[in-house]
Amino acid sequence: MSLSSSVKLKDRLNIVGQFFHNRLAGRPTAVTIEITKRCNATCDFCPYWEADEVEEVKDFTPAIKYFQPIWVSITGGEPLLRKDVVEIARKIRDIPGFRFISVYSNGWLLTERLVGELVDAGVSNIQVSCNFPDERQDTERGIPGLWKKLNSFMPEMVKKGYGGNLGIGTFLCQENLDCVIDLAHVVHGWGINHSFSSYSRLKNDNHTHELPAEYVPKARNVVKELVNLKRSHKNILVSEEYLKTIPEFSAKGQLPGCTAGDKFLYIDQQGYIKQCPELPAVAHISNLDEYQSQPVSCGLCWYACRGEHQTSISPRRLQEWLE
Ligand SMILES: C[S@@+](CC[C@H](N)C(=O)[O-])C[C@H]1O[C@@H](n2cnc3c(N)ncnc32)[C@H](O)[C@@H]1O
Ligand code: SF4
Ligand code: SF4
Repeated sequence: MSLSSSVKLKDRLNIVGQFFHNRLAGRPTAVTIEITKRCNATCDFCPYWEADEVEEVKDFTPAIKYFQPIWVSITGGEPLLRKDVVEIARKIRDIPGFRFISVYSNGWLLTERLVGELVDAGVSNIQVSCNFPDERQDTERGIPGLWKKLNSFMPEMVKKGYGGNLGIGTFLCQENLDCVIDLAHVVHGWGINHSFSSYSRLKNDNHTHELPAEYVPKARNVVKELVNLKRSHKNILVSEEYLKTIPEFSAKGQLPGCTAGDKFLYIDQQGYIKQCPELPAVAHISNLDEYQSQPVSCGLCWYACRGEHQTSISPRRLQEWLE
C-alpha cells in the first residue's frame, strides 16, 4: 500500500520535476474532466444525477495536450456509465509526458474486468467513494447492496493484485464523524489506500451535512487520530497539513487563498472549462487559447482538490510524498 505501491520512486521524482516545470510555465498541474453528469445514484448533496442528458464530449485529449497536466482525474456524474471510459483513459495515457490518471466512482458498476481494462489503459488509481463502514453507504447513495459489494469486492481485487490501483475517498461530514475511524481501519484491512476530503454545501446548497461549530472539537480529535493512523498504517494519502485544516475550515466557514484555475481546473461533459466545478465556464475545449485564469476571491469549500494545492510544500510533505 501507500503511494509507493501505485507510483514508482522514479515516477514520483518525475512528478516533482514536472510539478515545478508546470508552475514556472504558469500551467495547472491538475485537470479534472467530468465526462458525464449522468449518475446511477441519488445522493442528496450532489445534483448531478438530476441533470438533463446532453451531448457529451468524445475526445478530451486536445485539452490535455494543451495544459499538459500531471494529474488527470476522470470523474462525473458516474464516469463508469460511459461505455467509452476505458478509451478516454487510454487516449490520455497515449499523450507523450508523464501523467497520473485517476478515475472517481461510486463503485457500483465496477467489475474485475473493468478494473483490469482501466489499469491496462493507464489508470493508476480508481478511487471509490465511501463515507460509512456499513449499510448507511447504501442509504447515502440510494443504491441498495452497495456496502456489501464494496466490502467483498475490494479485498477480492487486492487478492487479484490490484491493491495498488484501488482506493477509497471519504469526505468528513456531520453524519460520519463517529464512524470514520472505524472506516479507516476497515479500508486498511482491505489493503488499499484511503483519501479524505471535506463536505461542501455548494453543490446544491444542502447545509445538513456540514460540521457546525459544536462539532469542531470532535472533528479535531478525529483528525488527530487520522494523522496517527496515517503515520502507522501508511495507506492514507492526503497530507497531514490538509487533514489538520479541515476543522479549521469548519470553524471559520471559509478559508482564503484558493488557487482554482491557476493550479487546477475542470472541464465538464460538454467541454466547458471552469476554474472549479462551482464557478461559471470561462472557455471551451474548442477554443483553448481563450482560457485565462482569473484570481478567485471565493474561499467557501475545502475539497481536498483545493486544499492540497494550497498547502505549502514543507519538508514533512516532501518526505510523505517520497516515503
Ligand atoms: C461528484 S463525485 C463523481 C464520481 C462518483 N460519482 C462518486 O461519487 O465517487 C466525485 C466526488 O465528489 C464527492 N462529493 C460529491 N458531492 C460532494 C459534496 N457536496 N461535498 C464534498 N464532496 C462531494 C463524492 O463523494 C465523490 O467522492
Ligand atoms: S456524488 Fe457521485 S454518486 Fe453521488 S450523485 Fe454525485 S455523481 Fe452520483
Ligand atoms: S474555494 Fe475555490 S475551489 Fe472552492 S468553491 Fe470557491 S473557487 Fe471553487
